[in-house]
Amino acid sequence: MATGLILGIESSCDETAAAVVRGGTETLSNVVASQIATHSPYGGVVPELASREHLRNIVPVVRAALCEADVSFADLDAIAVTSGPGLAGALLVGISYAKALAYALGKPLIAVNHLEGHIHAVLLEQAELAASNTAGASDTAGASDINPLPLPSLALVVSGGHTHLYLARRHGEHWSYRNVGHTVDDAAGEAFDKVAKLLGLGYPGGPWIDALAPHGNPYAVPFSFSQIKAKAHRRGDPAATDPSRSTLFSFSGIKTAVLRYTQVHEMAGSIESRRKALGASPKIADALALCDQQTLDLIASFQRAVVDDLRRKTFRAAESLGAASLLVSGGVAANRELRVRFTAEAAERGLPIAFPSLTLSTDNAAMIAAAAWPKLLAGEIAPAGLTANPSLALGNAPG
Ligand code: KG4
Ligand code: ZN
Repeated sequence: MATGLILGIESSCDETAAAVVRGGTETLSNVVASQIATHSPYGGVVPELASREHLRNIVPVVRAALCEADVSFADLDAIAVTSGPGLAGALLVGISYAKALAYALGKPLIAVNHLEGHIHAVLLEQAELAASNTAGASDTAGASDINPLPLPSLALVVSGGHTHLYLARRHGEHWSYRNVGHTVDDAAGEAFDKVAKLLGLGYPGGPWIDALAPHGNPYAVPFSFSQIKAKAHRRGDPAATDPSRSTLFSFSGIKTAVLRYTQVHEMAGSIESRRKALGASPKIADALALCDQQTLDLIASFQRAVVDDLRRKTFRAAESLGAASLLVSGGVAANRELRVRFTAEAAERGLPIAFPSLTLSTDNAAMIAAAAWPKLLAGEIAPAGLTANPSLALGNAPG
């Protein structure tokens, strides 16, 4: 553990990623092979194709990460890999490769929860920022002690598969997470993806809606989130019977509301011609010219409603839980309106807030290598029989 060099590997969904991070606080390389072009014609991730692409990409991506970091396999102190949650076949590619590599090199293997990785994307960059701001703090041991975000921090992990709130605490090198919120149906990113698809836009939908929303009127369509508690109750979610125990999100209703709006306003024809015009490899730059004002208003109203719901519930939870700071991570954290609105409210409340850079918002392996560092220090080595856990949970649910 002389240098703290960890090779991180991530293959839980549609990005094959590898990165080398030193001591959880210094990114030496961060390589991501995106599969967007593969899945785009299908309007979503095709699990079999994802596994095949991971198999094709894993060796070159790991090689590139080592080469960019200018380190060899022998220099590494540990191999870290995402063990869940995610697609079983996709996770297995990264896990099998990481296990074989750790075994062959005689290095420890660390299993990392993908959601904890998203949280550490922010912590990693905060530490890098603090280290660069602190003269003489470039030695690894010193930098790893810098943690500028006051704790406990309420973490909103908002991605294509998750909309979760965690109260994150640090106990020495160890981190603990209390799960204090979740979605009862679709994740927020999933809603962005489904709405973009039903409007004839490309995949993944978030960046398309992000780019088009500023051209529409966000108050044109009044979407509401008032039915969530009742619906969750019907599904037998225990948090619904005691709302103070957990924050509940729900994003399947707004997707249906958008669909109904397009039906009532007879937009099917224009949606179909947009889908055709964008073709098999759609480009965001071409989309604006293909959207009428009614569509742009619908997109802007949808984004405003989702961001508003995330913002209202997250800040309410932060207040009731006494969080000392907020961090927002996961693919949807790349959304510009979300960043502006969360930043403004945090400033109003005097609550420190942090987001990852755009590169570390979406899936990457630097966050996996960073999250593995405290585990390596604590001796949390993965068992030889480590396998994929597609529904791996993070932290304790509120009791
Ligand atoms: O974290 P991520 O890369 O993968 C998962 O763990 O799911 O998140 C991908 C999700 C997709 O649903 C995508 O549409 C969404 O993040 N996303 C965005 C933006 N960029 C990516 N959503 C809204 N605005 C964006 N700019
Ligand atoms: Zn993710």
